[in-house]
Amino acid sequence: MDLSRREVVKGAGALAAVAAVSNMSFVAGKAFAADGDKPLRIGIIGCGGRGTGAVGDLLSSSENVVLTVMGDIDEAPLNSSYNSLKGWEAKGKFAVKAENKFVGYDAIQKVCSHPEVDLVIQTTPPGLRYLTLRAAVENGKHSFVEKPVCVDAFTYDHVRASGKMAEEKGLGIVCGLQYRRENSYKAAIQKVWDGAIGEVVSAQSYYQSSIPWITKGYGVKQGWTQDDMDYQLRNWLSFTWLSGDCITEQDIHSLDAIVWALKGPPTKAYANGGRQEPIRSGVGDGFDSFAVDYTFKNLQGNEIQVAFYGRQIPGADGKNFNRIVGTKGYMDFFPNPGNSRALMFEHGNPKPVWSTDDIAKHNPYQTEHAENIAAIRAGKPLNDIPWVSDSSLACVIGRESAYSGQVLKWKPFVDSKFRIGTDKLASGKAELGVKGVRVPGQYKVPGYVK
Ligand SMILES: NC(=O)c1ccc[n+]([C@@H]2O[C@H](COP(=O)([O-])OP(=O)(O)OC[C@H]3O[C@@H](n4cnc5c(N)ncnc54)[C@H](O)[C@@H]3O)[C@@H](O)[C@H]2O)c1
Repeated sequence: MDLSRREVVKGAGALAAVAAVSNMSFVAGKAFAADGDKPLRIGIIGCGGRGTGAVGDLLSSSENVVLTVMGDIDEAPLNSSYNSLKGWEAKGKFAVKAENKFVGYDAIQKVCSHPEVDLVIQTTPPGLRYLTLRAAVENGKHSFVEKPVCVDAFTYDHVRASGKMAEEKGLGIVCGLQYRRENSYKAAIQKVWDGAIGEVVSAQSYYQSSIPWITKGYGVKQGWTQDDMDYQLRNWLSFTWLSGDCITEQDIHSLDAIVWALKGPPTKAYANGGRQEPIRSGVGDGFDSFAVDYTFKNLQGNEIQVAFYGRQIPGADGKNFNRIVGTKGYMDFFPNPGNSRALMFEHGNPKPVWSTDDIAKHNPYQTEHAENIAAIRAGKPLNDIPWVSDSSLACVIGRESAYSGQVLKWKPFVDSKFRIGTDKLASGKAELGVKGVRVPGQYKVPGYVK
């Protein structure tokens, strides 16, 4: 169920390493452009599980690339990531000097403005993505950003503005929603667009799984409490302003396929949700269950309902699946990175009439980097921000509807510009826009006008 997180993270593992790259020329302030001879220098901010995996995937996917700079809020993940990636030295793809390892609150700026970096891998908690992306773009760096890219209406606007700035500067931004780059998914979505199942009339989407992790003790031993910024950054999955909650952080993999197939975000959300205290043990402010009745416009502009179910409850039955239903038939999606399948059925016929089983398999976690780098080298950088920001906020509007118990409409939701986090990243109590477990019927989305 949680394959994406577990597998991907270890991506780089086994490779051997080599000679440091010495002939790196760089014009400060200018984007790395179409020059096949020049090594593309990679920096990473957020050296946890996925960040380490993403660097390994990038280095595996492309030639003439080298990791030069690393940063994290904490020394332990940085050192562990450094040790695991060092094996690439023998291939000339790892050249991180001691002075290019940055730890602490200023690591984001240090990595994103570093003169020996052309592309920044951004794998900090999602609530900080708007900061890393803006810092990278302002400093003329290309980006690989993990999903999701925003956690509220404020960060949605912010990353979209950065996306526009990147376009003007000729910078690439590719996002880590790997199914977007998996050939089987692409073929199935194209079938839906081509009308193979008829006009889409409804869809069902699921991401029912366990909890990736809750760290109940980490930080406490240093004397921090849950209200401390230092604690929250290290236990970010449990805090909505950092993770977006599980419906955004994890379930985006399912909901994105719906947004993709319907070529746009929902117009409305009406949701239920809650949290089981015995499981969460009083940690953080997230829910563990969401059920959302989304309204979308289909490709013909007609309103349809999409039912979404997501939860992170250990021991409960899992389900990670999407069904898109049309007037003629339906398309079922079975996500499994590198081995995803889609099957198409006609109504009343239990045998699939089409499938993706003959489509050649590949590793989409590598394809996303290969495509990013090829486009940069070709001088035609990709920019995923318009769609990944919509998919991220599609999750957020479902979450906020569950938190508040209100029906929420897309336009006033975006216009609310509501913000749950803070720019003030510093030790001490976290000064957040919204705090505590939200109570449906009592909590209201700040700034939302019906
Ligand atoms: N595409 C996928 O399948 C997939 C899988 C797993 C994770 N992810 C995404 O990748 C991102 C990272 O997830 P992860 O599982 O690697 O988490 P992680 O906790 O292992 O890594 C996050 C790292 O960010 C660091 N960090 C926190 N605050 C920071 C700050 N202010 N400055 C610098 N570093 C800071 C943490 O110390 C940690 O090392 C998330 O957005 C997650 O949703 C994507």
